[in-house]
Amino acid sequence: MKKQTLHTIQQLKMNGEPIAVLTAYDASFSKLISEQGVEVMLVGDSLGMVMQGHQSTVPVTIEDMAYHTKCVARTNQGSLLISDLSYMTYATEEQTLANAALLMQAGANMVKLEGGEWLCPSIKKLVECGIPVCAHLGLTPQSVDALGGFKVQGRNAESAEKILKDALAVEKAGAHMLVLECVPTELAEKITEQLTIPTIGIGAGNVTDGQVLVVQDMLGLNGDFRPKFVKNFFEDHAINSVQAAIAKYVESVKNRSFPGEQHQFN
Ligand code: KIV
Repeated sequence: MKKQTLHTIQQLKMNGEPIAVLTAYDASFSKLISEQGVEVMLVGDSLGMVMQGHQSTVPVTIEDMAYHTKCVARTNQGSLLISDLSYMTYATEEQTLANAALLMQAGANMVKLEGGEWLCPSIKKLVECGIPVCAHLGLTPQSVDALGGFKVQGRNAESAEKILKDALAVEKAGAHMLVLECVPTELAEKITEQLTIPTIGIGAGNVTDGQVLVVQDMLGLNGDFRPKFVKNFFEDHAINSVQAAIAKYVESVKNRSFPGEQHQFN
């Protein structure tokens, strides 16, 4: 795969070609995933659950994020690398800049933060300083306690309207990409149509410009944990290696056979 950049990813949206995204937290998976043509790798703070065994992303520190970003960056074969600003590391503009710098110096090409309108001044500042930004709306796991659990968001008209308004605001502030997590497909479709930047969905139906999953989830490595939006690509008997499962994921995202009806919220 040729080296992916902001420009090549934006081009995929313009050409209507779905963007394949997976999380990665270590050097071995980084090599495997990027070799299979996954255009974007995300060092997600979901590492708090899948790497560290926590119940949420709240305990993850910026040092954890920088460490895992360095591991992934060393063996990346050309994917655009996004790294999450972890819990409470972007409450002020100054804090946001300092912590985003740590992730960029660790090898990230873009930082991701959870939230809408209230983040716009920080997004503007990051972009002015040359740091590409991915925003994250819908179910924002760092606010799990405020949301009352890991629940689908935007199910009523008022909350759907708020998410749409937030999406337009973060794009206007300069964000280059938007993750939409656990929102009804109709809302994801409306947002994707109205934005010029790529939308990447997880539990948002097959209408977004790209799809993301946690790599352990799509390999069925998380035991009984199986949210509705996850597909285990190892369940297909023809798949007999991690490489083949990841290649199948890329193919299924590209031909829009994943996510199917059974993986979405209406
Ligand atoms: O932390 C993460 O892995 C994420 C994805 C689920 C989008 O934010």
